[in-house]
Amino acid sequence: MISGDLVLVGAGKMGGALLEGWLARGIDPHKIVICEPQPADSIRALRSRGVRLNPTPGGPAEAIVIAVKPQAAPAVMPSLSGFVGSNSVVISIMAGRSLAFLEAALRQGTAVVRSMPNTPAAIGRGITVAVPNATVTPAQRQITDQLLSAAGELAWVEDEALMDAITAVSGSGPAYVFLLAETLARAGIACGLPTALAERLARETVAGAGELMHRSELDAATLRENVTSPGGTTAAALAVLMASDGLASLMEKAVAAATRRSKELS
Ligand SMILES: NC(=O)c1ccc[n+]([C@@H]2O[C@H](COP(=O)([O-])OP(=O)(O)OC[C@H]3O[C@@H](n4cnc5c(N)ncnc54)[C@H](OP(=O)(O)O)[C@@H]3O)[C@@H](O)[C@H]2O)c1
Repeated sequence: MISGDLVLVGAGKMGGALLEGWLARGIDPHKIVICEPQPADSIRALRSRGVRLNPTPGGPAEAIVIAVKPQAAPAVMPSLSGFVGSNSVVISIMAGRSLAFLEAALRQGTAVVRSMPNTPAAIGRGITVAVPNATVTPAQRQITDQLLSAAGELAWVEDEALMDAITAVSGSGPAYVFLLAETLARAGIACGLPTALAERLARETVAGAGELMHRSELDAATLRENVTSPGGTTAAALAVLMASDGLASLMEKAVAAATRRSKELS
């Protein structure tokens, strides 16, 4: 368990979700410091539980989590110096901000973790991928595990170059799934369903199938095969979706485009 101070810089959507997870998991609010220029009422209210809001840095923290927009990073990084000591770990969830960028903005030899969460973090069901720099100790990995897994699952990689493809798969991935729900509804409307019913069917189907996959130990392909009888309705649809110009090739192009864009942006 974390024993020193834990600083959250930026308590917006992602930072707020992490904070909620930390409190739900029993991290002592008295250890939490929040730096946020325009705190929401729900964040201000945490002061009554002992959370410190925008204090003057009172010495090195054990962990500093940066959850501001990537564009705010150049302005924010210098303001962290009062919190960063030789034993601190700095954890960034900023998209596209590399370990080299973060290291250059911090005192030499600082332990830094770059990570990429996704929006289901808001309900504790995200998946985050983290990459450490060479300074991060096993104990600091454990602290990072504890902090980032409050938003869902956590995977570690050692090769930062994977971050662009990770961003394209899990960072942007929720949008592809929402698009699936939108297009399924539209296809239902095109086949004669009333709009409200089509939207409800698509939404609950995507949500229910996601939950089934979450709870099941079977892989996605087996779950798909389990709803496909030979010569039946699902097989007719899958013959279209799994054709050579079907979903697989579209998805490959989409993820490649997102990977390229991630490289350009960082
Ligand atoms: N949303 C996603 O799907 C997603 C996925 C992966 C990674 N991320 C990363 O998560 C990070 C946060 O995204 P978000 O969607 O949570 O953004 P957000 O809701 O805009 O939250 C950022 C927060 O940081 C605050 N802030 C700005 N400047 C600050 C400063 N100098 N000191 C302290 N706080 C400051 C902002 O305040 P103001 O509102 O007053 O500016 C805002 O409350 C981004 O870097 C993003 O790349 C997001």
